[in-house]
Amino acid sequence: MTPAFIIAKKRDGLPLAAEEIAFFVQGFSRGEVPDYQMAALAMAIYLRGMTPVETAALTEQMLRSGETLDWPKAGGIPVADKHSTGGIGDKTSLILAPLLACCGLRVPMISGRGLGATGGTLDKLEAIPGFRTDLSLDEVRAITERVGCVITGASAELAPADKKLYALRDVTATVASIPLITASIMSKKLAEGLDALVLDVKFGSGAFMKSLEDARALAYSLVETGERMGVRTSALLTDMNQPLGRMVGNAVEVDESLEILAGRGPADLRELTLELAAEALLLAERAASREAALEQLSAELDSGRSLTKFREMVAAQGGNLDAPRPRAAARDFSASYAGFIRCIDAEQLGMAVIEMGGGRKVVADRIDHSTGLEMLVRIGERVERGQPLVRLFSRPEEFDRVSRIVAAAIEIGESPCDGPRLIVERIGG
Ligand code: URA
Repeated sequence: MTPAFIIAKKRDGLPLAAEEIAFFVQGFSRGEVPDYQMAALAMAIYLRGMTPVETAALTEQMLRSGETLDWPKAGGIPVADKHSTGGIGDKTSLILAPLLACCGLRVPMISGRGLGATGGTLDKLEAIPGFRTDLSLDEVRAITERVGCVITGASAELAPADKKLYALRDVTATVASIPLITASIMSKKLAEGLDALVLDVKFGSGAFMKSLEDARALAYSLVETGERMGVRTSALLTDMNQPLGRMVGNAVEVDESLEILAGRGPADLRELTLELAAEALLLAERAASREAALEQLSAELDSGRSLTKFREMVAAQGGNLDAPRPRAAARDFSASYAGFIRCIDAEQLGMAVIEMGGGRKVVADRIDHSTGLEMLVRIGERVERGQPLVRLFSRPEEFDRVSRIVAAAIEIGESPCDGPRLIVERIGG
């Protein structure tokens, strides 16, 4: 096979055979197919798309480029996970992993860092003193077996073709391609050796996909690929036009997750976490109905057992949950006039947190875990002049600059409006 012929075939809009995809991806992974040919194929895929069969073949080859986890079948403990396409204030992973472990599932969660304006699960967890996110696959196996859940970063052995390809896509304007995104996300997730996977595909101002239509197309592609690869998969399409929960940042998001794990915390965050966890229990055949799943999960949260499980996981990963977590000085940003909160640019709020040092502008940046913000209002609420809208946790000298970003992100209008529905659609399952 010749790489240039395969590129030409895709350039001309023809579907690639599984063997051609295997030849290309394995060759790229071994360094035999050079970056420029892989970049050309990525652009051809970006422009021409892929069929579901091709997307599954691409995912499989990226998965096969590295090691995968496998689990003893004895005992019949299902292995499950959740993936979110990323949002502002999205901390559901921190809650969901111990919650599902309490319900008898294995959850070997491989997570990522911030992408664009969205925060990363690993960055949040690193706000816990001592917490390790660089576990080897052997450690992942051991902790998952012992505790029931783990949250760590992808080691070099896991889907290495994705790491190489993502770096190329990033600099060749080929990130926003549904088949390439699908193969990238699913190769990493399926390397965990899953039986069940639930996807939180977000749309709106703070999401990777801004429109519901684009998010739906991505969700269908992810679910179909998971199913083709023998993993029970479903997706929820969820609103990301305002932060999830109240807290956005790192240490503050850990604190809010602990609230939910203790049976308290903001209603939207609890609702979404419970619904995603219920999907996972249904896919793993550990609940007879959605209602039964929600009842079991609510009881777990309210009993505090999932908080104890989270403590166990943190300790197993070297973290100390009792050590003080940093929090910068708080100061409120208030409304300059009365009206209704009509619109929030959640992405800009994410950028405000990055400006405060809570995220990275370049890969080498160090995160300041103490910074962040707390949303004090939601879309549709009436506010009065002088009413605090957002509490900023920042270095005092940065308050004015960050306030200007926050001011531009929140639109107050004269007419009332409804808040958006959080969970809009369910796909697959
Ligand atoms: N997240 C990923 O892991 N890969 C993509 O391609 C896009 C988002």
